Amino acid sequence: MAQEVRGVVARGKGQPVELTTVLVPDPGPGEAVVRVQACGVCHTDLHYREGGINDDFPFLLGHEAAGVVESVGSGVTDLAPGDFVVLNWRAVCGTCRACKRGKPWYCFSTFNASQPMTLTDGTKLSPALGIGAFAEKTLVHSGQCTKVDPSARAAAVGLLGCGVMAGVGAAMNTGGVTRGDSVAVIGCGGVGDGAIAGARIAGAAKIIAVDTDPRKLEWAKGFGATHTINVRDVDDVVTEIQHLTDGFGADVVIDAVGRPETWKQAFYARDLAGTVVLVGVPTPDMKLEMPLIDFFSRGGSLKSSWYGDCLPSRDFPMLVDLYQQGRFDLDAFVTEEISLEGVEGAFEKMHHGEVLRSVVVF
Ligand SMILES: NC(=O)c1ccc[n+]([C@@H]2O[C@H](COP(=O)([O-])OP(=O)(O)OC[C@H]3O[C@@H](n4cnc5c(N)ncnc54)[C@H](O)[C@@H]3O)[C@@H](O)[C@H]2O)c1
Ligand SMILES: [Zn+2]
Ligand SMILES: [Zn+2]
Repeated sequence: MAQEVRGVVARGKGQPVELTTVLVPDPGPGEAVVRVQACGVCHTDLHYREGGINDDFPFLLGHEAAGVVESVGSGVTDLAPGDFVVLNWRAVCGTCRACKRGKPWYCFSTFNASQPMTLTDGTKLSPALGIGAFAEKTLVHSGQCTKVDPSARAAAVGLLGCGVMAGVGAAMNTGGVTRGDSVAVIGCGGVGDGAIAGARIAGAAKIIAVDTDPRKLEWAKGFGATHTINVRDVDDVVTEIQHLTDGFGADVVIDAVGRPETWKQAFYARDLAGTVVLVGVPTPDMKLEMPLIDFFSRGGSLKSSWYGDCLPSRDFPMLVDLYQQGRFDLDAFVTEEISLEGVEGAFEKMHHGEVLRSVVVF
């Protein structure tokens, strides 16, 4: 028997989202129904609504969530009703080539629920990132549920489900930031500030925050930025970063915007042997034109970071523990708590840079 819940659906490209009734089936083999307690509004939800990810409308949005397992399907042994979980979009298969070679964060057959959630007329919904958690309850694969310390605040730890983890992991996992490194982060939204926090945890000596918005730069300091650059106040971001790093450029530069111009800044602002990490998501139309010789004449590495190369079972509990110990301020990412009705308004605020994360709380 499917349950009726309220959920936020994007019906068409650029159309305002709609709060409507969603049917959530009982969990089938390997699946779980989760009662969502909190779900953050990520820029990727807006990308979905704008048709920037794919055309599989209607979408059930929301994917940075924490909640309590309500029921599990047959064959689920490591999860039980009542478990407090952060939802992830990397339920690794364990059997593909990447998993077998010990790099499960590159898993190419991650699990999602196999039954669809639908509208009341039977229309199948595409859940954002296979989660769809702007809904009172959602159906996921049991592997998408990562158990964490149940005494943690849902609105804060749910953010590990996507953007904050992507940022932290871009620094710690993909960028390999280590003690003494200089790090520059371009774009200080939820993802960029995650990268700043991750760089601090990893022991970076210098953390340079770059943004166009002074309010974002103030927040970035709270997460560990030692220096800030307002793009609007300088002639050239690259020169400024070099200036702050004794002329060398930063050891790791993280592009948390994802545009050709910011990636180029990241490329030229790194040390000759430095690492560039692209974690912001470009749209399919974006192109890069650069002299090939500039690639040849430098060492280092150019990387991209899907979900911060995280392994949820390894990284979520660790970061929740750091949060609970006061060593990682997840609360500071939560600018406001809103209701399901507030998602469209939260997109507006995100667009105007007024929030790091609006979090829907149930
Ligand atoms: N790789 C992943 O797995 C992953 C996961 C989640 C989100 N993302 C992507 O990361 C990006 C950032 O997400 P977010 O939620 O932090 O978004 P956000 O809108 O909260 O933050 C973007 C920030 O970039 C700043 N900015 C914009 N243009 C800039 C420029 N030219 N130079 C410097 N700063 C600039 C904005 O002022 C803002 O502070 C998005 O593209 C999102 O889709 C990637
Ligand atoms: Zn796999
Ligand atoms: Zn996201």
